[in-house]
Amino acid sequence: MSLFDQELINRLNAVISASIGIHYAPDRLADLEKAIELAAQDLNFSDAQQLALKLFQGTPNAEEVQAIARHLTIAETYFFREPRAFDELEAVLPSLIEMRRGQGKKLRILSAGCCTGEEAYSLAMLLTGLIPDIEDWQINIIGGDINQDYLAKAKLGVYTPWAFRGVMSEPADRLKARFFRALENGNFEIVDRLKKMVQFVYLNLADDFQAYERQLGNQPFDLILCRNVLIYFDKTMIKAALQRLSRLLTPGGWLLLAATEVPSAGEKEIAQNLKARLHNDVYLFQREGAKSTAAINVVPSLKNELEYGRKLLKQGEYAASEKVLSSALQQLNRLGQERRKLDISLQKQFLELLVRSLSNLGRFEDAAAQAALLVQIDDRYDYLYLCAVVLSESGRSDEARLLLKKALAAKPDFAAASFMLASIALHQGDNLTARHYLQMVSEVLQRLPPESLVECTDGTSVKELLNIVEQLRSDAK
Ligand SMILES: C[S@@+](CC[C@H](N)C(=O)[O-])C[C@H]1O[C@@H](n2cnc3c(N)ncnc32)[C@H](O)[C@@H]1O
Repeated sequence: MSLFDQELINRLNAVISASIGIHYAPDRLADLEKAIELAAQDLNFSDAQQLALKLFQGTPNAEEVQAIARHLTIAETYFFREPRAFDELEAVLPSLIEMRRGQGKKLRILSAGCCTGEEAYSLAMLLTGLIPDIEDWQINIIGGDINQDYLAKAKLGVYTPWAFRGVMSEPADRLKARFFRALENGNFEIVDRLKKMVQFVYLNLADDFQAYERQLGNQPFDLILCRNVLIYFDKTMIKAALQRLSRLLTPGGWLLLAATEVPSAGEKEIAQNLKARLHNDVYLFQREGAKSTAAINVVPSLKNELEYGRKLLKQGEYAASEKVLSSALQQLNRLGQERRKLDISLQKQFLELLVRSLSNLGRFEDAAAQAALLVQIDDRYDYLYLCAVVLSESGRSDEARLLLKKALAAKPDFAAASFMLASIALHQGDNLTARHYLQMVSEVLQRLPPESLVECTDGTSVKELLNIVEQLRSDAK
């Protein structure tokens, strides 16, 4: 049985729409009644009618708005929801990042209607992939929502596996390894370095934003996301909210809406000072007033993957570096096929790091296959040497020897190659050949400063290698 008569429920609908934005269609008015009933209990009103009477007397206060919103809003969200939208951001953000790099390395982003935080944290993850030196940046991602319970959950940053339902299992494992701490109960907690980039604040999109300027940082935003929030707003409220949001954008800044809300807003009416950039069914709008930064280019993000792979390799995280590098390399190759032109220099750098990761993992056969590709593209002396090291590790000394000789022909004073040829000869009991190469190494090294490092040896000094060479020469007599 209905708590309110038709006239009252219509009035309530109008009051709620004006103060929260959400407007109920006739077939969902029972949900509105239920929410008012629950909010009345939270606010210690004797019943729903008493709360309704209070709401009719004037604008609801903040406590009432929050109590009602708690029961009206819907918490459907997950990491990287609508992946195409994130692909588009990946295409437009690199040029914005490059611009901000020269302007104090600052970025401000608003996730409006952030719910339990997945969208805001997804942005932090995306930016970490796009900005290799992110530790030197001031990244300010603000998640704003009307529902305080959702905000509390967002601040906590703890998620069940269900929050990853929009991401395929392999990339989800990568995200978990990189950005989360696995908890004993099977949940995942956002790591601190990501939490530091994100703040959560109360924000009512149906309100005048001036009230929130301080929480929002009194500065314009480079990017605002407002997705799956305005779908229940009526047209007038959508327009007002979008106009307010567009005023918070810096000139040239971006607004991303979900496909679900654009048609309800009316594409042309979104906000006069915004220019639509519709691509792949993703609705991005750019605030006018700055040169367009919309160049679609995925190569910058692959460069970031390269730097990330390099960093992981340096940190000794070989399995992770191998994953990052192989998947980025596949992407690069695919891109090359599409464009009929491959970025060869990038491909070489990926291959080199991949060979190092694989051989550190003891996967010498895989490393040798990638090294062969590398040498096929460029038979530089150091690539020949790298390939020889891997071949020799997998027991293919004869092939390694051929490559080392080729490297020496290209660079006769290449001490590391001569030394390795000597080691192979010693291993095979060929002392005569070993002595020949050790002599070569010794002559080259004596011309170098003793404390300098020998090329391609991962940090062995000239003095150290000379000592080893002299020891081996006396053993091989
Ligand atoms: C379905 S969730 C969408 C979350 C996220 N943007 C996404 O796309 O995954 C909608 C969110 O909008 C919030 N919301 C609804 N009305 C709002 C308002 N007037 N002001 C701010 N947030 C609001 C809800 O609390 C909820 O968290």
